[in-house]
Amino acid sequence: MSKTWDAIIIGGGAAGLFCAGVAGQLGKKVLVVDHAAVLGEKIRISGGGRCNFTNLHSGPANFLSLNPHFVKSALARYPAAEFIKLIQSYRIAYHEKHQGQLFCDDSAKQVVEMLISECARGNVAIRHPVVIESIAQEGNQWLINTNAGVEKSKSVVMATGGLPVPAIGASAYSLDIAKQFGLNVIEPRPALVPLSFTAETFSGLNELAGLSVPIGIDSGSKGSRYGACHFNEDVLITHKGLSGPAILQASSYWVEGEPIRIDWLANLDQSGAVRCDEIFNDDELRLKLTETILASLMPQRLAKAFAEQCSLNGRKWVEASKKDRQTLKELLTNWSVKPAGTLGWKKAEVMLGGVSTKDLDSQTMMSRKHQGLHFIGECVDVTGHLGGHNFQWAWASGFACAQAI
Ligand code: FDA
Repeated sequence: MSKTWDAIIIGGGAAGLFCAGVAGQLGKKVLVVDHAAVLGEKIRISGGGRCNFTNLHSGPANFLSLNPHFVKSALARYPAAEFIKLIQSYRIAYHEKHQGQLFCDDSAKQVVEMLISECARGNVAIRHPVVIESIAQEGNQWLINTNAGVEKSKSVVMATGGLPVPAIGASAYSLDIAKQFGLNVIEPRPALVPLSFTAETFSGLNELAGLSVPIGIDSGSKGSRYGACHFNEDVLITHKGLSGPAILQASSYWVEGEPIRIDWLANLDQSGAVRCDEIFNDDELRLKLTETILASLMPQRLAKAFAEQCSLNGRKWVEASKKDRQTLKELLTNWSVKPAGTLGWKKAEVMLGGVSTKDLDSQTMMSRKHQGLHFIGECVDVTGHLGGHNFQWAWASGFACAQAI
């Protein structure tokens, strides 16, 4: 005879393991099942192997969702400071890298080990690899049919994450279960993902592969699904298109078919446009080559590429017509370019969209339609900015759910 669990958590990743540990330590009988041979693989590969586990400034403004208010309760009840306390209690050394992003000094594996230890402290049972064959509700109970037998529980927590990186076991299982029980699913889309361009749009830039430059970037639009954004971050030019933090952030807001806008001079103290006017009207520079003038504003290789784009390479500034100067200024400070697409699920860090927050209770992460059916982590229509916010959502949504199961 199998016992009845208080909760069965499907998915032993960031949200699932964390939720299990908290619930177990509250005295709940919890079982975690995962189809993977190794648990927490996304945590292990995150942050370049160092796991950007939270962000000091994580707050509702760092998340995209059709309902931006949904995250508020969970983030307030389990803020970044609480997870930092947990990390400190395990003596995991960490550092702040950039804009509040906290990374392990040594290895992301320490975070996985910590989550598994927390589960052990809560007497959580963990079984993997296990294939979940079906999930059904029978009266007040949930029946989880697996290749290792049937398990019964009062609650079931869907924590199978999002679709990025299928090679390490990502699946749409939580979304399938949501649909099975009549919950709405916001169409998933790769986010925090490099953007690709047609050969024509990218001509001249592909020779600059490997170059990383600070820029200002605008993406999305006011009326679009997740609105508009502006970020000052680095762009990385690659053989396949544009990447780096600026592009990853912009990709989450990008609307297919619409351009993104780049200010290549945004790192300067003044706005790029003001700096441009100053330098372009400086009489002392009249006899200098255009690419030399531009190189005082940006890396030499990029300066040369822009001068070439305007057919001003090798020409003295005095030879540039008013129209040439205007074109160059526009190119440097408001470069509008239409991405052809994204590099897709293989290269995305997170999923945009997911289980509709309209159908979930923000205090408990439970379906409004089904007692005991919860969704946490990335499978919910909540997507964080780059910088530790996605893990913070995994912890916060897991914590909220753990109080309710
Ligand atoms: P997660 O993916 O962690 O866990 C899901 C679990 O469910 C997995 O163990 C999986 O095996 C299991 N599963 C899937 N389908 C199943 C099925 N059908 N049956 C049973 N089990 C199933 N975020 C951040 O904040 N800081 C960072 O540094 C990074 N870095 C980063 C790098 C890369 C390369 C990627 C791809 C992603 C990141 N992220 C990140 C995002 C972060 O990894 C992600 O948001 C969280 O892991 C989401 O946690 P979940 O628990 O929701 O899913």
